[in-house]
Amino acid sequence: MTLTLDAPRIVETKPLLEMKGISKAYGRVQALRDVSTIAYPGEVLGIVGESGSGKSTLLRMMNLEELPDQGSYTLDLSDVSGNLFDLDRFARRMLCATRIGIVYQNPHLGLLMKHSSSGNVAERLLIAGERSFAALRQSATEALKASEFPLERLDAPPAELSGGMQQRVQLAKAIALEPALLLLDEPTTGLDVSVQALVLDTLKRLQQERKITMVIVSHDLGVIRTLADRVMVMRNGQVLETGLADQIFQDPQHAYTQQLVNAKL
Ligand SMILES: Nc1ncnc2c1ncn2[C@@H]1O[C@H](COP(=O)(O)OP(=O)(O)O)[C@@H](O)[C@H]1O
Ligand SMILES: [Mg+2]
Repeated sequence: MTLTLDAPRIVETKPLLEMKGISKAYGRVQALRDVSTIAYPGEVLGIVGESGSGKSTLLRMMNLEELPDQGSYTLDLSDVSGNLFDLDRFARRMLCATRIGIVYQNPHLGLLMKHSSSGNVAERLLIAGERSFAALRQSATEALKASEFPLERLDAPPAELSGGMQQRVQLAKAIALEPALLLLDEPTTGLDVSVQALVLDTLKRLQQERKITMVIVSHDLGVIRTLADRVMVMRNGQVLETGLADQIFQDPQHAYTQQLVNAKL
């Protein structure tokens, strides 16, 4: 009997996100220099680098909040095409409100601190055209539940909640419309270590259940290690190295990455 094995099939997956040649200066500070990156559908891309390396600036561009001096950005979605930086301000806003979710390190950037927690999430649903109060309340509750927010605090404003709970409200708002892309900028930085672990658990579970494409930025290699499938290392506005998480952690190529990984061991 002969056994024939199929030649391994190489499946060409198209990236969901593709950024090419992104540069941005703030006055004399060159925040980003010729940065290119991709994220495949369903994967978690981790971006790591010390403070000031340009991570948040890049993430704000992925959220279409900020425009580069140079470079292009595409998302492989059925209803948009071309360089997203060329869209007008209204189209950029609609796209980021309906298809992209973001969690900031600072909850003040993502939430109305004095509105109720469920109201913060409902606001996102209103953008998508939902008008019935009962439906809004139900969908907001579902998103908060998925983010493991305690439902007895639905009406509490974020200003009265702990840092960990505020991040769960941001997360609920970010996932309420089932975005194609979820962006997380240091989502657990500043939280107590035990709370940090709980929020990371929630993110991991959501990612596994929903297969959302995520880009997570952190200066903390431990956070990146917990979540990322692929890792991009940045320094001084440039990409130093990109690779599968296992490769980056076990066999870092760049001296700076070696330092980062060794410092963490
Ligand atoms: N809105 C801004 N105005 C001026 N400088 C900025 C602004 N945003 C970022 N920068 C500068 O760009 C560089 C990269 O910042 P950032 O993207 O916040 O880095 P990271 O998130 O990696 O700490 C820093 O030198 C920062 O001071
Ligand atoms: Mg930052």
